[in-house]
Amino acid sequence: MSEINYSYIVEYIRALHPVPSSSILLEIENKIAREIEHWPIIKPEVADFIKVLLSLIKPTHILEIGAAVGYSSILMSEFLNKDGHITTIERFPYMLDRAKDNIKKANLEETITLLEGDASDILPTLATHQYDLIFMDCAKGQYIHFLPECIRLLKPNGLLITDNVLHKGTVARSRYLIDRRQRTTHSRLRDFLWTITHCDELRSSVLPVGDGIALSFKIGGNTND
Ligand SMILES: C[S@@+](CC[C@H](N)C(=O)[O-])C[C@H]1O[C@@H](n2cnc3c(N)ncnc32)[C@H](O)[C@@H]1O
Repeated sequence: MSEINYSYIVEYIRALHPVPSSSILLEIENKIAREIEHWPIIKPEVADFIKVLLSLIKPTHILEIGAAVGYSSILMSEFLNKDGHITTIERFPYMLDRAKDNIKKANLEETITLLEGDASDILPTLATHQYDLIFMDCAKGQYIHFLPECIRLLKPNGLLITDNVLHKGTVARSRYLIDRRQRTTHSRLRDFLWTITHCDELRSSVLPVGDGIALSFKIGGNTND
């Protein structure tokens, strides 16, 4: 089973996903639905959940780790404050070409900055307390390594959203039931989830939406920091 919830419930919820207002998002969704492309984008129910969160937060500065073809950054751009901005990081040249093309077609080159390279090199170069929201959607085994940087980069009262944290439900299983090749990811994801739920700087919740989402609110302080 590749879904973490009952398939019939997932199918029903996905059928409720509205047609996107952006023609580029619609084009990407259609290509994936018709299996013309196999791009890794957020699941429809995750897209709808993020849209609600962003409507509440109204962020000005967003950082995304893992742009792929630009789908989620284009989607999030609709919920930015006036003069808001998204910085998104991608390391895979094939994805970078498609993301650049989609961002250009969506006329969002001023709003979305695509940083090319590995997040492990790029994150340390970004300024502290810069982002209202970070969307982490990259290699799952790296979440635990990127977490200290995410905490540093988030403004106090900022939100970290991390996708695919339940990894098709395997995270909830004993490591001895996991294929040996998946055990490193399994233990790193467990380490990540334990850390965000037991860390003084964050208040976190893990939700079985899509492939599992973690929401982590950065506790504290003066929002003008
Ligand atoms: C699940 S996809 C992102 C999907 C995208 N957020 C969306 O919904 O439209 C993950 C992407 O992260 C990229 N990635 C993985 N690890 C990375 C890293 N360390 N630095 C930069 N990009 C990374 C992969 O190349 C892949 O394109």
